[in-house]
Amino acid sequence: MTWTHTFDTSPDAELKGILSKDFHWGYATAAAQVEGAWNVDGKGPSIWDKLCHTPGKVKDGSTNEDATRAYDLYKEDVALMKSYGVTAYRFSLAWSRIVPLGGAEDPINEQGIDYYNRLIDELLAANITPFVTLFHWDTPQTLEDRYGGMLNQERYTPDFLRYARICFERFGDRVKHWITYNEPGVYTLAGYAGGMHAPGRSSYRDRNEEGDSSTEPFIVAHTELVSHARAVKIYREEFKPTQKGVIGITLHGNNSEPWDVNDPLDVEAAERARQFEIAWFADPIYGSGEYPACMRAQLGDRLPHFTPEQKDLVQGSSDFYGMNTYTTFFVKHRDEEPDVNDHKGNIEKCDANSEGKSRGPESDTYWLRTAPEGFGKLLRWVWDRYHVPIYMTENGTTAKGELAPTPDVLDDTFRVEFFNGYLRELATAVRDGVDIRSYFGWTFTDNWEWAAGYTDRFGVTFVDFESVEKTRYPKRSAYFLKDYFRHLIQEK
Ligand code: GAL
Repeated sequence: MTWTHTFDTSPDAELKGILSKDFHWGYATAAAQVEGAWNVDGKGPSIWDKLCHTPGKVKDGSTNEDATRAYDLYKEDVALMKSYGVTAYRFSLAWSRIVPLGGAEDPINEQGIDYYNRLIDELLAANITPFVTLFHWDTPQTLEDRYGGMLNQERYTPDFLRYARICFERFGDRVKHWITYNEPGVYTLAGYAGGMHAPGRSSYRDRNEEGDSSTEPFIVAHTELVSHARAVKIYREEFKPTQKGVIGITLHGNNSEPWDVNDPLDVEAAERARQFEIAWFADPIYGSGEYPACMRAQLGDRLPHFTPEQKDLVQGSSDFYGMNTYTTFFVKHRDEEPDVNDHKGNIEKCDANSEGKSRGPESDTYWLRTAPEGFGKLLRWVWDRYHVPIYMTENGTTAKGELAPTPDVLDDTFRVEFFNGYLRELATAVRDGVDIRSYFGWTFTDNWEWAAGYTDRFGVTFVDFESVEKTRYPKRSAYFLKDYFRHLIQEK
């Protein structure tokens, strides 16, 4: 089914043409969630391949062996994206497809390079600008086995840098927008604090055999920041002068609002929550060059220290602020001492505030509610604090009841309303002077949503995972975004 309906954008008439002609918009994906072909054409295993083949780790018991088969179906996907009117596509490279064993001395897999070359060429031929993420959570399993992956900064960093260099060398003639890491914070917290994501480490022995939630997340985060900065230095010194691209990092972060606006302790707690979640990574890169004082106060020396050399490297190491954000929480202060495994700033997250106001309508994902106003506030918080151009690199929602591609399901009003609300906020923030240069919806097609398996559908395209062809069915939201961006972006 295709939707021919043109949306009524008249309620937003004053926002017409508010985004400049070179604003990029499209969808974001991640290799491990869409490619499939998990062990073909020379690809080595990643930590997610291992985790999803371990019983009990993924909600529906699924693996990402096939995912949406984007590896096989990339041509059809690019054509579909083109029909959706996008101008850009953000995807990630699977490190272990390019260097199957991952290490600095390990062989390159030319078949992996060929695949990404074909994808990039297909995109450019369709006039779609590639935004490429080097790392979206899929560390080569061999590096985990050899030395514990990112827990070992000294051994990990040269391996990552060699991989990054290969990507700049082989793809940088055509790729002009690079993202080193996707959400270093979620990789760290879900993989080493909660232990639900790969590599599955935490202090909780009913869940994970190994790990220490009170120290490892902060060590891994430090490795990510420093190795990110070193990769950027290589790009800027050796590649940027000829390739002329931009490079940065993408951070996660939801908006936090005080549970009781009249309680100064809740107001403080909400700000502390934003700092633990966002400024943890953003202050060292875009701000003071150090971790936030409130984190140092709570965590002491469990939070690593930057050496003067590292501080210098990390500060200013991103040409833009890559922003992934989905929702808002109400935040209440806690009177008790923080738990040793706390990484949120000793707060409690709530779905409603002290007056009973809900944080927004429920999606099909427990943590995600539609909260456009909070998005507008967070855009301004990031802009006011760091003042660097923002690239929105992920934003989107699931919707309840998307079980089969029936006309009702494909008519996904809930998702349309989500995007409408958030984009109106984005456009308004731009009108108010916030420098935002891209928007990538999460996501192009339903995909393999990590530990949630195939149960959480975030796509503007329904995928029939039962079918061998992984048949794609456009949802109405795909056409909404097309129309709405046509309205928001200045005509050429
Ligand atoms: C982000 C992540 C994506 C996707 C999305 C929806 O944190 O980068 O890969 O899973 O959340 O849950």
